[in-house]
Amino acid sequence: MPQAPVAATGFLPRALADARSPRVPSTAPYLPEHPFPWGGPAIALEGGGSMGGRTVDLERALRLSLAVPHGTPGCRLRPVASAGALHPVRAHLLLGPGCSLPPGRYAYDPHTHRVHPRGPAPTDAPPGAVVVLTVTAARTVAHYGHRAWPLLLLDAGHAAAALALATAPAGVRVSLDADGAELSAAAGLPRAAEWRVCRPGTEPELPLAALWLPPGPGPVPPTAALAAWAALPCALAPVWQPGAETASPRELDATRTLLAHIATGPGSTWHPARRPAPVTDETLRTRRSAAPSDLAHPPAPDLLARILATAGDIRPDGPAWAAAIGGDTPGLRTAAGPLASGDARPTLARWAAGQQWVGTAGAVLIAHGCPADAPPALIRSSHLAAGYAAGVAQAHATALGLRSRPIGSWQQADLGAALGDAPGRDWIVHGLALAGPPGGSSPPGHMPPAPSALSAPTTPSGKEERP
Ligand SMILES: Cc1cc2nc3c(=O)[nH]c(=O)nc-3n(C[C@H](O)[C@H](O)[C@H](O)COP(=O)(O)O)c2cc1C
Repeated sequence: MPQAPVAATGFLPRALADARSPRVPSTAPYLPEHPFPWGGPAIALEGGGSMGGRTVDLERALRLSLAVPHGTPGCRLRPVASAGALHPVRAHLLLGPGCSLPPGRYAYDPHTHRVHPRGPAPTDAPPGAVVVLTVTAARTVAHYGHRAWPLLLLDAGHAAAALALATAPAGVRVSLDADGAELSAAAGLPRAAEWRVCRPGTEPELPLAALWLPPGPGPVPPTAALAAWAALPCALAPVWQPGAETASPRELDATRTLLAHIATGPGSTWHPARRPAPVTDETLRTRRSAAPSDLAHPPAPDLLARILATAGDIRPDGPAWAAAIGGDTPGLRTAAGPLASGDARPTLARWAAGQQWVGTAGAVLIAHGCPADAPPALIRSSHLAAGYAAGVAQAHATALGLRSRPIGSWQQADLGAALGDAPGRDWIVHGLALAGPPGGSSPPGHMPPAPSALSAPTTPSGKEERP
């Protein structure tokens, strides 16, 4: 399998340690979005529903996941959450028979909610839609510097979850480990390492995940889904984007190289997606991250337990999840039982780049694992799956009437060491703050006795999230 040119030993552990360190990023001013790079005719998406519901309804799937809300050009809101509201994820649609558009490759523009054709489909295109999710790194790197790349992975995971939730229940499969070079070829994009040479003046897109949306409930194995598309030549090229690539800061280059490196892999595993009850289309349409000041009321313990179970169960390839609560019996617990006693939230606030509101949030779910020396595939899956799980958990929380907000920047958050285990083995990679409605009847969370107290050194506060 071809590798991106960055196999230097130690590069990845150093980048991971740096992203987790208290070093404050030196960031550029807010970078506006470059113009949409895919030219040609813009085709309106039409709802599916013909053929007795055996058509992939791309209009609905994309409207409920990635589309900028109708009539709000320049709007920073989407159905899906995103670190800093920067929305770096793009979608390429590879359509076979059974979709609400003719077969072919298309690029999706979230601002117009239209697609741009980029070439034909292979004759053996699998039925339904393969959606390749890519990220453009420039804006997130400008905002978060060396901390950007884990956030880009988390964002891609959230986007995959949003699209899966918007399409489920329809036999959707999600792959978070497909080989990046194969994903690029399937989407008709240059490989990450070759982009700047092949397509100067346009912003590289790094593919990280794929979904397969079948045209009906019958299971069709998607194993060859990418191969059929990858055998086609490169599709229509992006058009020049003014300002996209005049100068590329070292950190941006490093981020792209790193993401391309960790996205190499031996193949793709497709896991079924699920929409937890009572999530509805309306839940997805109205999901929002609550303001930090509105997150202080504890969620009811039974609802908290349900969200914790969703986060932990939704992907078989993700990190472990735990919940920190305050109240009369503060502690940290997993779905299986107590992990530690004592209020972990103030420590979590310090670890979360010094975001003080985390210390008083009703409850804080944390995804943890991904050791300091994790191999590339584990780093990728930990972050993508954590983002995916947090995305589903946030939708579930919304449907249950809870407030929520993802927490993406974690510094020196060595949970294992704080719990008295060996250092470097068990790090927090993502979080989701949860709260009940103010004035609601949720009692303070109840925690059974736990074996040990969570203690952690005070860390210097880092850069605060700027949503
Ligand atoms: C991966 C990720 C990390 C995030 N990290 C933080 C964070 O650390 N602090 C915070 O206040 N909000 C965080 N957010 C929430 C975003 O700021 C929020 O999603 C964005 O402003 C868009 O608002 P919306 O979720 O209401 O659509 C994060 C969101 C995502 C998806």
